[in-house]
Amino acid sequence: MLDAQPKTTQLSEYTEPNFWVETTELTFELQPENTIVSTRLQLKRNPKRPANSPLELDGDELELISVAVNGKQLGVNDYSLDEECLVIHNMPDEAVLETKVRVNPAQNTTLDGLYRSGGMYCTQCEAQGFRRITYYPDRPDVMSVFTTHIVADAEGNPVMLSNGNLITDSLDQGVRTVTWHDPHKKPSYLFALVAGDLVVKEDSFTTMSGREVALKLYVESQNIDKTDYALDALKRSMRWDEETYGREYDLDIFMIVAVDDFNMGAMENKGLNVFNSSCVLANPATATDATYQRIEGIVAHEYFHNWTGNRVTCRDWFQLSLKEGFTVFRDASFSADMNSAVVKRIEDATLMRTAQFAEDAGPMAHPVQPDSYIEISNFYTMTIYEKGAEVVRMLHKILGAEGFRKGSDLYFERHDGQAVTIHEFVGAMETANNIDLTLFKRWYKQAGTPVVEAQTQYDSSKQTLTLSLRQHCPDTPGQTNKKPMWLPVQLGLIAEDGQNINIQVEPAHFVFSNVPENTRVSLFCDFSAPIKLEYEQSTDELLFLLEHDSDGFNRWDAGQKLMLSWIEQARQGQFELSDSAKAGLTRLINSTDLDPALLTYLLKLPSESYVAEFSAPIDPVGIHHAREQVVNALANALESEFKACYKRLNIQQDYAPTHSQMAARSLKNISLYYWAMASAEGINQAQQQFQHADNMTDQMAALNILVNAGEKAQAQAALNDFYQQWQHDSLVINQWFTVQAGSAVLGTVAYVQTLIEHSAFDWRNPNKIRAVIGAFTNQSLVNFHQADGAGYKLLVDAILRLNKANPQIAARLLTPLTRWKRLLPQQSNLMKQQLESILKSGELSKDVYEVVSKSLI
Ligand code: BES
Ligand code: ZN
Repeated sequence: MLDAQPKTTQLSEYTEPNFWVETTELTFELQPENTIVSTRLQLKRNPKRPANSPLELDGDELELISVAVNGKQLGVNDYSLDEECLVIHNMPDEAVLETKVRVNPAQNTTLDGLYRSGGMYCTQCEAQGFRRITYYPDRPDVMSVFTTHIVADAEGNPVMLSNGNLITDSLDQGVRTVTWHDPHKKPSYLFALVAGDLVVKEDSFTTMSGREVALKLYVESQNIDKTDYALDALKRSMRWDEETYGREYDLDIFMIVAVDDFNMGAMENKGLNVFNSSCVLANPATATDATYQRIEGIVAHEYFHNWTGNRVTCRDWFQLSLKEGFTVFRDASFSADMNSAVVKRIEDATLMRTAQFAEDAGPMAHPVQPDSYIEISNFYTMTIYEKGAEVVRMLHKILGAEGFRKGSDLYFERHDGQAVTIHEFVGAMETANNIDLTLFKRWYKQAGTPVVEAQTQYDSSKQTLTLSLRQHCPDTPGQTNKKPMWLPVQLGLIAEDGQNINIQVEPAHFVFSNVPENTRVSLFCDFSAPIKLEYEQSTDELLFLLEHDSDGFNRWDAGQKLMLSWIEQARQGQFELSDSAKAGLTRLINSTDLDPALLTYLLKLPSESYVAEFSAPIDPVGIHHAREQVVNALANALESEFKACYKRLNIQQDYAPTHSQMAARSLKNISLYYWAMASAEGINQAQQQFQHADNMTDQMAALNILVNAGEKAQAQAALNDFYQQWQHDSLVINQWFTVQAGSAVLGTVAYVQTLIEHSAFDWRNPNKIRAVIGAFTNQSLVNFHQADGAGYKLLVDAILRLNKANPQIAARLLTPLTRWKRLLPQQSNLMKQQLESILKSGELSKDVYEVVSKSLI
């Protein structure tokens, strides 16, 4: 793991492997501290590689017990072995390799490879965890048919799972042996094994060709009442992929397992998805609407990988966005179809503008197809995922739904069972649509966020409107003088009476004729390209668009632009809510023809990190106070409207996670928030709701309000009550931690320290770390950036503590510090010093080393 001068892997140095692995047979003799893994590989030399080239196997933290080729044990002189590699020279062209290694799951705190979570065994192999299980060519272009035998104590492990179909199950003197066989070739990163004391919730799905698939969700017994929603979401996903992409599931069984200790959200292992329990378990009393929606999206995402990732996989990890970008696009389209498409678009654009644009503007900026990496785990980024999905979405926009479907059909037909590159994906789109996308491919190669400057000019004598667009893209590390990008520009013209036209254009300069006076232009409707738009619009114009644009996304965008300008005015000490703004917002709140989910977003001020992305240098304290001032102004000016809106929506009904109920609850709870910001009466109502809510959405919303708008004593009392009520439920306690650590009012450095010392906190559980340290550094900006640098120190202490124990989590925690150059000078210097102190602190994991060293360049 530790290396003084870690090596960089380059895309340009890709070569095929020397050997292919036809079949892989694994035997696990499971014991918590002493697990023996025996591996039998059928190998075939790759004729494209030089004759006599050696067999190269990856390995990490393995104790090699024995190695044999074609039945003959090798001596130490027959191979070379170092920390990362087992190399065997003089290999025949076809051979059976047998190895035996020892691993220690109980000691594995990295949650990568084979480890223990609670009392169970589980694995995580993407991207390079399989090499922590056995010696293997651990690269996605090596695809093999896997058979897995699991041998374990029967009493402790009533459930023993791996990929594919169960072939045999036998018991001998308290030891159980099961065999699983997966008929589909797959790379090692899709391997999975789970064993432990779990219960199962079963369901089934009939595919479009009439095959019956058994669906099984495995959980710890106390969670059996939290399984219904994920199974429903799974069935909806399976149907949607058949209807939208013509893709059918390809095994007779599909399993999901919930585990508590997991670095990511979930993992798409073939036939055996493993989920972070926070991303799959829900019931109305414990999960918020936001959690329900996250579950629906992640279940879909991992299921969709079965075609975009598993059947067609990546040649190498530089192609990661081939599966992740495409699959995020697919899960976003699914969520848009299941809920409100506009709201989903607003949420995704917000993520782009806060997290991805910030990444693109920082030291870790990289293209959607990166050129190099030190540690691949650091490249599961906003750029690979979110920008990658935006690029696929632009292709969809350019080709149209039908053209895109022709392209995806051809992609699956051509490349089923193969490990391919992004080039092949675009190539299928080109062939199927008879179009040249060479220029479009710059989106994959060029890092940085393009900036588009727009200007409009109206000629009243000719009734023409001229629009000019210019684009440029800032330099990013290692890339200067960028070329222009192919931008799908979707735009609308909105006449004074609110009439809209909507068109899609590509040239940079064009003239519209027969345009009436006072027509407004709405640009990049639906966020048609992931760019920063610079276009001057007056307050009146923005207010008008907020009320009248037929493009829901741009209505929201106009409102955000307006609110950003208010926050900026408040920072200058010059903000006052105008009568026209008040009147417009009143009409909005009272409008009955608007989806309440969209209305909620129209009424929401941009978050502090959103505001930060639109300012230079970033002044977190100033932003916080300015934003609070605008919140208070809105709350006070519109109190009676918010109160009435709350009362209208606060009705007794049985909870259901349906779109219409969730939309109504979101509007109800944002109304309660503003009402409580305005008056004690609102706070009292929040207190009532907190005590009597029968679902977590309403209870958590009220708790958040009490913590951030109430008196300290009232906030503490509610937090104590909540803890007493929910201390038995770890997932609810995570939410309890987040409310506190992410609060500007409560989440001070000293307070967060007490949360870390709380008995419910656990350094081995990534969810707890994210709930406390992640929430503090990403949400409580005013405290994280407190003037003396104590917030940075707290973060760095956590990073150093996790550096070796869980390098992936340690590196992820670093993100806010990598933004140091954009802060005010005092904070910027303190952040830089902290990064330097990490570098000096001795042996760093590759993960932490890469992020820190690149940030300091
Ligand atoms: N393949 C990833 C999970 C993964 C990522 C495993 C990195 C190991 C290292 C999975 O498909 C994924 O992308 N999960 C996301 C959620 C998804 C909805 C975007 C996650 O875990 O955050
Ligand atoms: Zn994924």
